[in-house]
Order: sequence, then structure tokens, then C-alpha cells
Amino acid sequence: MPESFISELKARNPLEQVAGRYVSFKRSGSNLVACCPFHSERTPSFTLYSPGDHFHCFGCGAGGDVITFVMRIENLDYMSAVEYLADMAGMRMPETGDRGERRADKNRFYEMNKKAARYFHEKLLSPDGRQALSYLTERGVTPEMIRHFGLGYAGNDFEALTGFLMREGFSGEEMKTGFLCGISERTKRPYDYFRGRVMFPIIDTTGKVCAFGGRIIGNGVPKYLNSSDTPVFKKSRTLFALNFARASAQERLILCEGYMDVIALHGAGFTNAVATLGTAITPDQARLMRKYTQNVVVCYDSDDAGKAAAKRAIGILKEADVSVKVLSLKGAKDPDEFIKNYGRGAFEKALTSATGHIDYIFNDTLAGYNMESPEDRLSFAKDICRVLSGVESDLEKEVYLGKVTQLTGIDTGVLRRELARRTKKNEKETKLKRTENDIRTLIGYGDRVNPEKIKYPAACSKEEGIIGVLLMHPEYMGDDSVKECVRPDDFVTAFNRKAVTEIRRIYSELSEKAGGAGGDGGFDFSYLNETMTPEEVGALMKMRVAREELADNGPGVLRELADSLAEEKRKAGSSGVSSASELAERLRDLKEGRSRRGAAETEK
Ligand code: CTP
Ligand code: MN
Repeated sequence: MPESFISELKARNPLEQVAGRYVSFKRSGSNLVACCPFHSERTPSFTLYSPGDHFHCFGCGAGGDVITFVMRIENLDYMSAVEYLADMAGMRMPETGDRGERRADKNRFYEMNKKAARYFHEKLLSPDGRQALSYLTERGVTPEMIRHFGLGYAGNDFEALTGFLMREGFSGEEMKTGFLCGISERTKRPYDYFRGRVMFPIIDTTGKVCAFGGRIIGNGVPKYLNSSDTPVFKKSRTLFALNFARASAQERLILCEGYMDVIALHGAGFTNAVATLGTAITPDQARLMRKYTQNVVVCYDSDDAGKAAAKRAIGILKEADVSVKVLSLKGAKDPDEFIKNYGRGAFEKALTSATGHIDYIFNDTLAGYNMESPEDRLSFAKDICRVLSGVESDLEKEVYLGKVTQLTGIDTGVLRRELARRTKKNEKETKLKRTENDIRTLIGYGDRVNPEKIKYPAACSKEEGIIGVLLMHPEYMGDDSVKECVRPDDFVTAFNRKAVTEIRRIYSELSEKAGGAGGDGGFDFSYLNETMTPEEVGALMKMRVAREELADNGPGVLRELADSLAEEKRKAGSSGVSSASELAERLRDLKEGRSRRGAAETEK
């Protein structure tokens, strides 16, 4: 990507504006803060620095620029994020041969999935698909819904789809990575992964087929087979039918358990139904829904498993800050059966009478106790106080406390005190946990980005200082004395070594072409997005922010830091020399370290 293109792209897509579509900012000093869209939180730790157009979350460590932001929030790779932003700003992508490859990779998988989906769909409508088609028809799936969802059929043949895709130019390796085939141990030939199944293509919110689910026709195990994660599919971040539901999501989304439920609901006009893909709902999926709506109605199966799953879903959805209601269906095992038995009108009615999540938990808890028993009444009251201690609205709390009094005969004043005690305890626990987390982060525990920090804290702090200064002043890298003393080989921890190597590489590549990596605004983080994860970029952001708070960030500081790092490295390395060549290298380091120290001293 030409540098001029990236800088124009960023100028035309201010981070504040782009991120503002996902979070609401509040001003805090010269910065903007918001609740982080990448993890669930109630107090804002997602910070947007001005100027500089960088963000960093103190909660989860994510950080970077507008490109990192889009990569992360839309789950795109670097090139796709660039393209996305270009699209947004009405810019044309420049023609580049070299970097297009990784993107092309993804496109290959999308292309392959599209071909496979068409193949399955045609099979369903062909004579081979007769049995599958009548299975669907008998279950009430209309031809219109079959077309709408692009349902298909995978025959019993072991080489049907694989044969077809081979002829279309796809390799066994590609099909395997895309989860469409296995490779036979004996013959080493690819064979169809989905066989004898009705196929449900899973389509992402950009309208591309990213995966498949396949249901056995009639009885048999496993009932469903699903794609695992591939380069274009992440199960925990995808929802079935969200590609359709997003259009009517604003008022609310209906969350179901199964593909068949969603299809029945869409068929009956409830086009805002989605489902997870055979797993319990994840925080990522909850936040994905939150992008499209404030309100989610959980409509799970009515068996015990469904009820338990609904309770867990409530917790996860609440964490993502959506209002949750629960629809418990009577007289049917799932929404699909309900629609079939009672029709769309009945479902509509059930929907309007869906209970708020507290009501749901209240009734569910109540059902577990015998109100004749004093002991049960006490446990019930305690349970409800625990639930209510997580509720914000005082009004709501009063209503339920009143109900508990009615049911148990316990004085409301007593209940209020119990609730206050419980709330205080919660707060204490949260605070304790937070301090614990802070301490752990402080000493480097739980530092996922640089796990060696805990082992070499002193060396690591020097390394971070060096990186921080270089990120503020990339131009120092053009200075020979800096080049000589800041050497990746001196870095003790692998992550920081990789980071400083990257930063140097990017700097020298860019300064060959033009005027360096960034200029006055410091190092341009965009370039790091290609080889680093958003968490890694975030960690580097933090190093820069930490340096910015200090007064002196001149080249002299760099040399001092480099000297102390060399010292730390000697200490750290004295026990870890494992080969003769390494020993020789260490000795050379040692000598150079000394001469560097000498140089620094004479300068002063
Ligand atoms: N599922 C799965 N593997 C299984 C069973 C279920 O992945 N062995 C997933 C599927 O995504 C399925 C969902 O869990 O859609 C809900 O399961 P279930 O209620 O059993 O399936 P339905 O979609 O309702 O299908 P059917 O009505 O045909 O039983
Ligand atoms: Mn079902």
C-alpha cells in the first residue's frame, strides 16, 4: 500500500467518527473515552487519544489506529479493513501486485464456499435430492424458504463435491482448510466431509457464504455437522441468519437455538430471528447483536437444557449491555414446532408477552422452591436478593422485594437490609478483583502479549522504554549512533525483540521510498497491523503513551536505556548460554556493550 494512500485513507476516516458508530464517547480531559467495544465493561476504559488518532483500552489491552479498529470490530484482515475504509470514503483501491495475496486467499475460500453452496442447492432441486426435498417439505419448509436460505443437499457419494471443486480448480488442501473435505489416510485423496445431509449455508453480514451446517435426513448421529473455524469463519463470532435479520433488527432480535427454528420464524414473517451455531452464546456474539439492536428476546427450546441455556444467555447478553426478554413457549418443544402447531398469530402474541429477564429468573427460581417450607422461603428470599443485587433500578428492586414479601411473609424492610448487605459485598468483591487484576498486570502476570515480562521485569521495562521512544520519534532510527546501540539482538524478551525488529524494518523500508515512517506525528501504527495482532499493537501503544508522560525522550535517553538493557541482558543471559556460537555472540555483545558505554560517557 502506498503511504500516501494510507494517510489519505486515515484522514478521510477519522477514528473518532468510525469508532463513534460503535460506541458513544464522553470527553475526559483532552481525550475521549467510551465503554470498550472489544470486551464487556460498564466503566469506560476505551480511550481515544487526540491528536494522533490512536486508541487504547486499559481494560483489555486492545489498541491501534483506525485500521486496527476496523480489523478488530469487523473481524477483517488488514487488506480487507483498508478496502472497507476506502469504500466508506469513496476512495479507489490502488493497484498493487504484492500485498494482494493474503486477501486473494480469503477470496479463494469465499469463492469455493459459493461454488459449494450452489452445488448443494442444485443437488437438492435435482432428482438426486428428491428424498431430502420431501424431508424438508414434510417439515413445512416452503420452496420459497429453501430458495431464500439457499438450502442444499449433500449426497452420499464420497467424491461428489470434492470432484466438482477439483474440476473448478480447487486443491484438496484448500478444501480441507475450508472444511469441505477430509483427506483419506490410505489413498491420500480428498473425500466429501458433508454426506447425506440437508445443507444450511452460513452467510456472514457482508453476504458471503462463510461456512455450512449439515443435518442428517431423518434420525441418525451426529444430527448436525458444522464447519469448524476456517480463514473466513469464526464460529464464536457468527450468527445464523444475521445477514437477513440485521435489516429488521433495530426494534429487536430474536435469539433461537436451531437453524430450523430460524427458518420457521423467517417463513412466518419474523425476519429478525438468528441462532448460534451449535454452541452456547459467546460474549462476541452478544456484542455482535448489540451492534444491531438494544433488545434481544431469547427464545430457546422449552426443555430443561433450553431453560438452563437461556439463563446463561441472559447473563452474557446483559454483560454486553442489551435488554433481555425471555419467551417461554408452552405446548411445543421449540419455536419451529410452536409455529407449526399454533401459527404466526400465536407467536406474535407470545412475543408481546415475553417477560423481562428478572421476571424470568424470578419465576424460574420460585419454581424450584416449596413455599410451604419455611426453610425454602428463606432460601428463595436470599436467592432473589442475590439476583437483585445486580439490578440497577431501585424501582425494579422495590417491585420484586414487594413480591418476595407477599410470597414469604418476610418484612420488606428486612429484605431491603439483606439486599443492601449483598450489594455491598458484591462491590467489595469487584473492587478486590480489580485490584488483584491490576497487581497481576503490574508484575506482568496475565500479560498475554509478552509472557516473558514476569521473568525479566527489569530488562522488559528498558525494552519498553526504547520502543516507546522510537514510536514517538521514528526519525532517531536514521541516526547512526542510535542504530548502533539499539539492536534487536540485545532485547531479552521475544515479543519486544520482534516489535523492535518490525519497527526498524518498516522504518528502513519506508525511508528508502520516501521520508520515513510517519514524521511529526510519530510512528505510523498502520504498518504494524499487517504483522501484529490488535492486542500486540495495543501493547506498543501503551509503551508510547507511557513515554509521552515523561519529560525527556531525546536520543540520549535511548542510548542510556540501551546500555542498561545490555547490562540486564548480561545478567539474564549468564545462565542461559547453550551453544558455542551463542557464547561467542554473547562475548561480542559484551565487548560492544562496553564500547558503547564508553562512547556514551565521553559524550557527556
Ligand atoms: N446442533 C449441532 N450438533 C448437534 C445437535 C445440534 O451442532 N448434534 C446445533 C445446530 O446448530 C442446531 C442447534 O444446535 O440447529 C439446535 O439443536 P436442535 O434443537 O437439536 O436442532 P434444530 O435446529 O431444532 O433441528 P431439528 O428441529 O431438525 O431437530
Ligand atoms: Mn428443533
